[in-house]
Amino acid sequence: MIAITLLISSCQSPTKDNNMKNDSADIPGRKWWKEAVVYQIYPRSFKDAKGDGVGDLKGIISKLDYIKSLGVSVIWLNPIFSSPNADNGYDISDYRGIMKDFGTMEDFDAMLKGMHERGLKLVLDLVANHSSDEHEWFRQSRSSGTNPYRDYYHWWPAEKGKPPFRPGSFEVDGSGWRFDAATNAYYLHYFSFRQPDLNWENPKLRKEIFDMMNFWFDKGVDGFRMDVIPFIAKDTTFPVITQKDIDEKYNGGWDQYLASGPHLHDYLKEMNKEALSKHDVMSVAEGAGVTAATAHNFVDEDRNELNMLYHFEGVSLGYLPGKFKEMDPKGYSLVEFKKIYSKWDSVFEEKGWGTIYLGNHDQPRMVTRWGNDAPEWRALSSKMLTTFLLTMRATPYYFGGDELGMNNIKFDKIDDYRDIESINMYKQIKNKGGDLNEFLNAQKISARDNSRTPFQWDSSANAGFTTGTPWLKVNPNYKTVNVAAQETDANSCLNYFRKMVKLRKENLILVYGKYALLDRENPNVYAYTRELNGKKLLVILNFTNNPASANTGIDVSKAKVLIDNYADAPVNGQLKPYEAVVYEL
Ligand code: GLC
Repeated sequence: MIAITLLISSCQSPTKDNNMKNDSADIPGRKWWKEAVVYQIYPRSFKDAKGDGVGDLKGIISKLDYIKSLGVSVIWLNPIFSSPNADNGYDISDYRGIMKDFGTMEDFDAMLKGMHERGLKLVLDLVANHSSDEHEWFRQSRSSGTNPYRDYYHWWPAEKGKPPFRPGSFEVDGSGWRFDAATNAYYLHYFSFRQPDLNWENPKLRKEIFDMMNFWFDKGVDGFRMDVIPFIAKDTTFPVITQKDIDEKYNGGWDQYLASGPHLHDYLKEMNKEALSKHDVMSVAEGAGVTAATAHNFVDEDRNELNMLYHFEGVSLGYLPGKFKEMDPKGYSLVEFKKIYSKWDSVFEEKGWGTIYLGNHDQPRMVTRWGNDAPEWRALSSKMLTTFLLTMRATPYYFGGDELGMNNIKFDKIDDYRDIESINMYKQIKNKGGDLNEFLNAQKISARDNSRTPFQWDSSANAGFTTGTPWLKVNPNYKTVNVAAQETDANSCLNYFRKMVKLRKENLILVYGKYALLDRENPNVYAYTRELNGKKLLVILNFTNNPASANTGIDVSKAKVLIDNYADAPVNGQLKPYEAVVYEL
């Protein structure tokens, strides 16, 4: 049985000695969104109040006290707008309407009110690179070459021949152009053909988007997470790009030539001026294709664009090159992992502000991918990863369910998947005569549906998520891994998460303190210090299922243990498997 020591007498209630009280006046650039812990909810899978197997806003309302009890301060909801759900809401047919499956605008207003009453802020998902093909703008646009909405999308007349290749991520044939007979032209879609790309070159379209953002801000929404936002700007001359160009000029990354077009930062500045700057809100870009070299252009304060972005370097680690999201059987290298997160810390050392995450709706479950989901290690390694996320200098984005240590479901059959990405990639590999078993095995680790399975509330049927048939299967381990069971266990992942959130909230050193990596080449242990105004913390994380130690050069014999995921702190520097410990030096 694992017990947790929590010797946080100095952290439990902010006292005179407490960092927060003492240091806050001396910290420049404080912002609520830097100090936030963002909790991401996948509405489709969170809680179904009406019994049709799909989560909904009333379900979220019924769980607001639970969310509040976590201590988090911001909720990010995946898209809740009207949508035919080709890509689970990332295909919006009305930006000002609520998806029927999820409820009504009255439900939304009640949900937002309930959040604000509890001091929780709400961040919505802005999906503005593309709409649904069922959006009225697209219906109009495709109806004739002279329709006023024609230029809301990208069209390539067939008289000019076939358009230069662009990839369509979710398409079986891999093409990002689709022929539309009505006007004898192709339209562009970087994702599925049900998600036509919007034309940001058109000032009318931009105004529609900014007005729509203000509509939600006027309702009281506290910010937006911006879906694939670097993709909104393209080279709309659509030059021919060969594989050689991609390899040589674009560093092998398809998103680097598809995205970040010439006017991207003009558009973001305009968005800031017309919408973001008018409200006290936060903005975070899904930074597809953004590198350490380009990140500042998005988030530096004097740029007047966005507040934060999240990069893909961390979550891309460990996959085999040339394969579709297939893990290297050797796993990932902790030394590389440390290098990436240390680099991204240093990127924002002087300017800008970072984010940190290990899971979301596009990633597998954190504990399966980065920890160890074998029954004996699941809880311990999950707590260790939670410790990492909440002790770094960056705003943590924590995916709902990770606080329970929920892990991948690992489907055996393609029929169990609901995600367009898995289903169409399977068809693509099948058409090419590829190895479907290899693909299905790889998906057990990397498929997006692994993180989208219903939230596990209790041990009743369907984990208490729904009284109907869940839209995606429930992980069979819900009988033991669920909120009800963890509420009553002081040592549960859930209660550990609450303690870590509290520790971060009450110690601004964990938010703003300088980060320094120790014992860089240690392949098993991640160790670092955080330092602020003369105070120093040491974080030590064993990423393996064996005892390990780190050469930190720091004497901890007199240090205070602030939190440990075992009952006893390490003796003689010997960490137990997946041990996580935070010392105050
Ligand atoms: C983003 C979303 C993902 C979606 C894609 C297309 O990456 O996070 O879920 O499928 O954009 O909108």
